Amino acid sequence: MRRYSRITGTGSYLPPRRVTNDDFVAQLAEKGIETSDQWIVERTGIRARHFAERDVASSDLALEAARKALEAAGITAEDIDLIIVATSTPDMVFPSTAAILQGKLGIHGCPAFDVQAVCSGFVYALTVADSMLKSGVATRALVIGAEVFSRILDYSDRTTCVLFGDGAGAVVLEASDEPGILACDLHADGRHVDILCVPGNVYGGQILGDPLLKMDGQAVFKLAVGVLEKAARATLEKASMTESDIDWLIPHQANIRIMQSTARKLKLPMEKVIVTVDQHGNTSAASIPLALDHGVRAGQIKPGQTLLLEGVGGGFAWGAVLLKL
Ligand code: UT7
Repeated sequence: MRRYSRITGTGSYLPPRRVTNDDFVAQLAEKGIETSDQWIVERTGIRARHFAERDVASSDLALEAARKALEAAGITAEDIDLIIVATSTPDMVFPSTAAILQGKLGIHGCPAFDVQAVCSGFVYALTVADSMLKSGVATRALVIGAEVFSRILDYSDRTTCVLFGDGAGAVVLEASDEPGILACDLHADGRHVDILCVPGNVYGGQILGDPLLKMDGQAVFKLAVGVLEKAARATLEKASMTESDIDWLIPHQANIRIMQSTARKLKLPMEKVIVTVDQHGNTSAASIPLALDHGVRAGQIKPGQTLLLEGVGGGFAWGAVLLKL
């Protein structure tokens, strides 16, 4: 019998401190940085973001999201035999945030590692977990996207600091006789590493280079709208399906205009797109599982429906996962 992987539970978590555009505009004005709610909403669709407190790390956000996903799947942490965390804002240089999370979940022994593919991290992690479940290496995985981007923002750069927020989203992925994940499509193009990066590094006990986020927004935007359509079509082709089979598009939540463009190209009405960017901004690897969990808990996404998950960002890296819930 063929072995597949299926999502059996979702969960998410946003840290309690919610900063609306108006709050943020006022805070930035005190530092002489000029921006407005109108600009942010018109250009991005973002209305608020959540920021974690200083002593809260990605693993803490991941833990909250993981607990909810485990509860939704009706299992406990002891049932998990694989943990993959997608993050670009890990707790430490090493060990992995996944290993730290494993400790916080009170379990030990199962493999735990991080995947670093920035805003595509969750679709990368889900694809890796799917492969490991299909090949029999694991049977019940926790796949999580967790980020504290507030730590790496340059609050003197209005072109980037208004865009990002903190959060985590998680799924339980279980081996199954029924699909599940239908097709995956991953890519990267290292010629574009400079358009979205945090170039600093640790060297001899000091930070070498700039440790804050840099982005050429227009370059990222242009590349994103092209590659997202291709990745979507590639997964549909692999699964012998068409756009009309998609019940929900769950794109990376970076900019409403990118989502609208992808939906248009796939001839999907916006009613079939899960949009949460307004509530939490760009949470990088956390944004897709956050949106997925939101759609499930709001009763929009139902069991048996076909979902297309799409990520894009730093690397330049992108990908899509087509699945039946
Ligand atoms: O997560 C990974 C994926 N990331 C993305 O998908 C992000 C992709 N890029 C974007 O979403 C958009 O490019 C941005 C939202 C970053 C920028 O939107 P844009 O429509 O490309 O704006 P722009 O960079 O062309 O800037 C337009 C104007 C500029 O002023 P001038 O030169 O026309 O006078 C900027 O200086 O808007 C100005 N501007 C701002 N004004 C008020 C830039 N940031 C701000 C701001 N407030 N926060």
